[in-house]
Amino acid sequence: MSTALAINLHKLARFTNTALPIITLLFFLAGWQISFYFHFLTVPFIGLTFVNVYYLYIQKNHSLLRNFGILGQGRYMLESLGPELRQYLYSGDREERPFNRTERAEVYRKANNVDSASSFGSQNDFDATEIKLRHSLFPISKEQLEPYSLTFGEERGIQNTYTLTVPFIISGMSYGALGKRAVRSLARGIARVGGLMNTGEGGYPKYHLMENCDLAFQIGTAKFGVRNEDGTLNDQLLADLAAKEQIKIIEIKLSQGAKPGKGGMLPKEKITPEISELRGVPMGKDVVSPTHHSECEDYPSTVKFIRRVQDVSQLPVGIKMCIGDPRQFFELIGEMKRQDIFPDFITIDGAEGGTGAAPKAFIDRVGMPLFPALKTANDILLSAGVRQKLKIIASGKLINPGSQIIAFCLGADAIATARGFMLSIGCIQAMQCGSNTCPIGITSHKEHLERGIDIADKAIRVANYVHNLEHDLNELLCATGSRSVSDLTFDQLYVPIESALFPFSSHN
Ligand SMILES: Cc1cc2nc3c(=O)[nH]c(=O)nc-3n(C[C@H](O)[C@H](O)[C@H](O)COP(=O)(O)O)c2cc1C
Repeated sequence: MSTALAINLHKLARFTNTALPIITLLFFLAGWQISFYFHFLTVPFIGLTFVNVYYLYIQKNHSLLRNFGILGQGRYMLESLGPELRQYLYSGDREERPFNRTERAEVYRKANNVDSASSFGSQNDFDATEIKLRHSLFPISKEQLEPYSLTFGEERGIQNTYTLTVPFIISGMSYGALGKRAVRSLARGIARVGGLMNTGEGGYPKYHLMENCDLAFQIGTAKFGVRNEDGTLNDQLLADLAAKEQIKIIEIKLSQGAKPGKGGMLPKEKITPEISELRGVPMGKDVVSPTHHSECEDYPSTVKFIRRVQDVSQLPVGIKMCIGDPRQFFELIGEMKRQDIFPDFITIDGAEGGTGAAPKAFIDRVGMPLFPALKTANDILLSAGVRQKLKIIASGKLINPGSQIIAFCLGADAIATARGFMLSIGCIQAMQCGSNTCPIGITSHKEHLERGIDIADKAIRVANYVHNLEHDLNELLCATGSRSVSDLTFDQLYVPIESALFPFSSHN
């Protein structure tokens, strides 16, 4: 059966291109001879005719417009409306990526404090790919749970340890990638629940600091906020920042799941005079960070750099990375053992992680997805006998309790999410984070878009989201019979044969 449209577009285009000037002429004559009011139609039709002539004979960029004229523009219009049409009208609840409607709705409900119980049955496929949690025959009650507590830096016995009492961290997002109102909403919200927010690699965290929340300061490869002219680390600037009461821990970003092997990127559209000043970068040019820290050329220098940041900041210091080749991770841990220097935490970011902007090929094709990466990292640390030397933070689409508890079973000590928290303040997944046109204003610096964000209201949503995640996590913990997330193990997962984790699984 032919799938061609019944309308012959070539004929229709020829007809339109011929008819346009004729209709214009007719309106002109009618306006002249019959009534002046016909000129209200003559004018727009003259405009359309000129545009059509431009498309057909002058512009050379778009072959479609050269061949079809103004009719071809319909295709571009439909194409640009396509995502919205699909999202609102045609896509099924489980179809969209990166998060389908059901996943997003769960976050919205949590953020709005609406009960997220479902009826009738699961919409998931109970097929051969889904990992499930093994419940216990003897669930425990909530009173038996131990309160969550995770102390960074305790392994080194440093003075400035930091204790996390909420297992959900706002993952690194810079002011620049996010607009100031979004940053302040998230910061105010996480302060309400006593949680931790990562500044991302945006330089001096002016807006993060405004709301009195605990912060992890991130050092990206461009070292915004703590850089010398040549892009190397400026110890004094780091020491000054680390001395701020709100900065509790430091994260050195080695790589990020959405673009491992590639530095951060801030498109020129998003560089305002203020951002240019806070980062120390020029306006009018995309800012592309180096692929790696100039201080980290090999395993020994990377480990030494971690120690240097620990010494200068006097705070717990960790690294963030997406795993590529597990053998390299193994070597890195080996070098840490040789030098007896360990980061206080490692953030494992899955390849499915989000970004403000990155090349598509990197987003789609580079790096190991979170679950196998987490399992690999945990196993390597265990086999090297150094798992107790540091904490593991996991990130990569961990926006709902079902996936979060799996990460805990795979070795995570805490969960970080960026997009979970963006959704909690109303992100609609418009996928325009890099273009300064976010319709909600979360990733935009345009005043008329940002004005939609009411900081006080959004902060409440962030707090609700965290409380409801905690509530669900605790219920899941009770079902497993474990008193805390640190008791969870891989054995509490049912791993089907076609899951990416199956190679690790010893029994099913
Ligand atoms: C808008 C946006 C900006 C981000 N900026 C940074 C950043 O500055 N530094 C960083 O390490 N990761 C950055 N990320 C990645 C997140 O911190 C996180 O690692 C990743 O999105 C995985 O978490 P998620 O799947 O819960 O979003 C950004 C992500 C988003 C969506």
